Amino acid sequence: MWCAVHRLTTRVSAFSLNSAATSSRRYNAQSVALRLSSSTSEASPLTVIPRVKAADATEASEGPVLVKGWVRTLRKQKEVAFVQINDGSNLGGIQCVVPLSEIDEDTKKELDKVSTGCAVVIEGPLVKSQGGKQAVEVTANKLKVVGECPGDTYPLAKKRHTLEYLRTIAHLRPRTNTIAAVARVRSHLAGAIHAFFQEVGFVYVQTPLITASDCEGAGELFRVTTLEMDKISDLPLKKTEDGKGTTDEIDHSQDFFGKPAYLTVSGQLGGETYASALGDIYTFGPTFRAENSQTTRHLAEFHMVEPEMAFADLDSAMGNAEQMLKYVVKHVLDKCQEDLEFFSKFYDKELIKKLEALVEQPFARVSYRDAIAYLQEEIAKDPSKWQFPDVEFGTDLSTEHERWLAETKFGSCVFVYNYPKAIKAFYMRDNDEDGGETVNAMDLLVPGVGELVGGSQREERLDVLLDKMGELKLDPEDYWWYLDLRRFGSVPHAGYGLGFERLVTYVCGIENIREAIAYPRYPGHAEF
Ligand code: 4AD
Repeated sequence: MWCAVHRLTTRVSAFSLNSAATSSRRYNAQSVALRLSSSTSEASPLTVIPRVKAADATEASEGPVLVKGWVRTLRKQKEVAFVQINDGSNLGGIQCVVPLSEIDEDTKKELDKVSTGCAVVIEGPLVKSQGGKQAVEVTANKLKVVGECPGDTYPLAKKRHTLEYLRTIAHLRPRTNTIAAVARVRSHLAGAIHAFFQEVGFVYVQTPLITASDCEGAGELFRVTTLEMDKISDLPLKKTEDGKGTTDEIDHSQDFFGKPAYLTVSGQLGGETYASALGDIYTFGPTFRAENSQTTRHLAEFHMVEPEMAFADLDSAMGNAEQMLKYVVKHVLDKCQEDLEFFSKFYDKELIKKLEALVEQPFARVSYRDAIAYLQEEIAKDPSKWQFPDVEFGTDLSTEHERWLAETKFGSCVFVYNYPKAIKAFYMRDNDEDGGETVNAMDLLVPGVGELVGGSQREERLDVLLDKMGELKLDPEDYWWYLDLRRFGSVPHAGYGLGFERLVTYVCGIENIREAIAYPRYPGHAEF
């Protein structure tokens, strides 16, 4: 009995149209289920009308169903009205046909209130559709407007808007086809990432968002403080050495954590500690970078997927990243066909072919030194074509270099490995074989995006790590716990970080990362 009722509560909305508009009854499905489950005696004759989502409406129904969503368009003819509803479950929504001569007076009045954007509940059977666009439609015997939407002030009343404009109404933009499709694909990608790592036995670890260390050492940190920053005169200042006066440095011992604290730029260091106990772990959470980048690839708040593997080298990290990407892209190709076709039509004609190629083609691998040689050879042909024509060992590759390598030179995703030590983070393992000039690091470059993944084998040798920290003037005191990993059962280990919004941008074939996240944060923008 419990199983049957449980299934019922999750799959149907157990109240009829008459009560559906009452917000306090929104969660009544459960109480109805309870009454059903104790139906030993004279249970009330409840009519349970199942709610159907547009994505699941594929066949005619035996009885009436409820459809709940927001009106996209209303078209009234003499005999019938066509109400196109979108409930977010798919791109196309569902068509509801209202037979005007057969509906009651209440529904007629309600129909007069219908406008683009209003929220409605519709009751009627699913029937085979007369038109060719959809398999089934609803014959709407009853209709109730749950939330009206005045057309003169509704910002989405008109059909077409630019993506730039939609960013200014980010709270309403998920009601557009593009942003809703991005949200669905994003959700499938996130689910597939978890599924992949769980299937291959990785433990999901949530590392802290507030931290005292700068993992990447790039100084792009947002500070976290409870000190009263509005009143400079009230800020506690450090005392001078003689204790008699004050310096102009803030005294963080009086701050919330008793020391400077920041929003994390990466969960890696915490991830390494758990990998050093659990073997294979991954984190998947928000990260923050106060870099002043106004590009189509950078956000100040983004999500990173960071696996970390003990007893592993750089090769294992590259292999895992390739396997994971193929898995999640294949999942989206299987599950999000309608949305991907939409993106192909409006944003990138080659999208589906591109995604299929990613799944099928092995990723290329090239050392940084060779990549530089290829770039130099190409740039020499016509330096004027390049924004950054000066490329040599030690150059931090720019997006145009990365894209040329992936799009033109290799025509596929490509791992570039063994980067110069000088341009990479302190925790990366020195390559012993080339005089310590390079580290065991890799970036995965993807056509159309550039860098999607950055990773490395970590420096597991305490003495080497201490030397590297010394060179970069990092205080070992601040990393005592991280260094302990190298003191107690140290093990070769490796991992990487994948920028989740860059993946969403790529898979949706859209131009700008600001469409890949619900509320993009970038310099000057923290609205909503
Ligand atoms: O290369 P990054 O900086 O690597 C790390 O943070 C390592 N600690 C990860 C690890 O080894 N566990 O960043 C990893 C990825 C980049 O390849 C890029 O895709 C993304 O994170 N990324 C950004 N995405 C959006 N906006 C930004 N500002 C980003 N910065 C990095």
